Amino acid sequence: KRVVPVSVIKLASEATGLPPQFVKSERERPTVAYDDYCREIPVISLKGVETESRRKGIVAEIGRACAEWGIFQIVDHGVPEELMKNLMDKNLAFFKLPQEDKLKYATKPEGYPEAFGYATGSHRADDDVLDWREFMLHSCLPKNVHETAYSFWPKKPEGYRDTLVEYSDKIDGLVTLLLGLISESLGLPTDYIKNAVGGEDTEQKILFNYYPHCPQPDLTLGHRSHTDFGTITLLQQIEVGGLQAYKKETDRWVTVEPISGAFVVNLADQLQILSNGKYRSVLHQAVVNSNQTRQSIVTFANPSSMSQMGPVPELLNEANPAKYPSYIFKDYLRLFRSNVLVVPDGSAG
Ligand code: SIN
Ligand code: FE2
Repeated sequence: KRVVPVSVIKLASEATGLPPQFVKSERERPTVAYDDYCREIPVISLKGVETESRRKGIVAEIGRACAEWGIFQIVDHGVPEELMKNLMDKNLAFFKLPQEDKLKYATKPEGYPEAFGYATGSHRADDDVLDWREFMLHSCLPKNVHETAYSFWPKKPEGYRDTLVEYSDKIDGLVTLLLGLISESLGLPTDYIKNAVGGEDTEQKILFNYYPHCPQPDLTLGHRSHTDFGTITLLQQIEVGGLQAYKKETDRWVTVEPISGAFVVNLADQLQILSNGKYRSVLHQAVVNSNQTRQSIVTFANPSSMSQMGPVPELLNEANPAKYPSYIFKDYLRLFRSNVLVVPDGSAG
């Protein structure tokens, strides 16, 4: 089965109702509004993290947020707001390109750098119902593996590649800092988790999302509910809300409030497993709305494919036996995520 990326932007401008291929089952439809913000999700300032006194407090805050929420926001994180804004402008300019230009970057069959390109909805083989979004995925790190991928990145709009490379580098530093703080919050040496997930071979992917306004937002989702499969995810969004996390204690979806210059941090599956379930990989989704287009930039940090994953032995004892098996990361998708990705056919649409 092949998937053709339909232009959701075009559909948004033409459709009076939601095209049937986007209508979700009743069970999946959103229950909480895109702008009904939950003010309890922790917002943590990293200011002064290099000083011993302040670091202790930050580590404690992060540990609590990881255990109780699996999602939180960080401010004063050191990534220049100017750079964040600049990349968001590239995101917008890319999706505004004519569909035939975007299709030049559609995910291509074998031979292309793995997991690269433009698509809509999702690429899953069993995907009968699409998500209301367009997206563009970039493989960024490790550099030696993905340098060839850079040559496939869009040349238009001007400055796209350079901005992405600079952002990728800054985010990589921030991910290292966060993994250090999370390691410390578990009582582990600062570099423990970073080393466990592959050190300098850690993989980084950067995803641009574009969610056009939607004629019937109550019937669909911009991105269906899921957990991220890697280590940790950093998300930047514009002032239009839409990201929601599932809070199991209250059995409710909560909407993350957009904060200018902040990153949303999501813990992903591998951190839940490394922590033996102390920290949670949060179930999340994106909802859309009828007035405004929304954009986000999502950075995934994933273990290198040969990393040995599983609960950290130092955290286990008689009272806390392993809740998960150990495995090589490359087997994780195969064993636990059986959905096969299919490649869209860029020639039509
Ligand atoms: C995602 O989970 O990948 C996207 C969520 C968002 O755009 O807010
Ligand atoms: Fe996600």
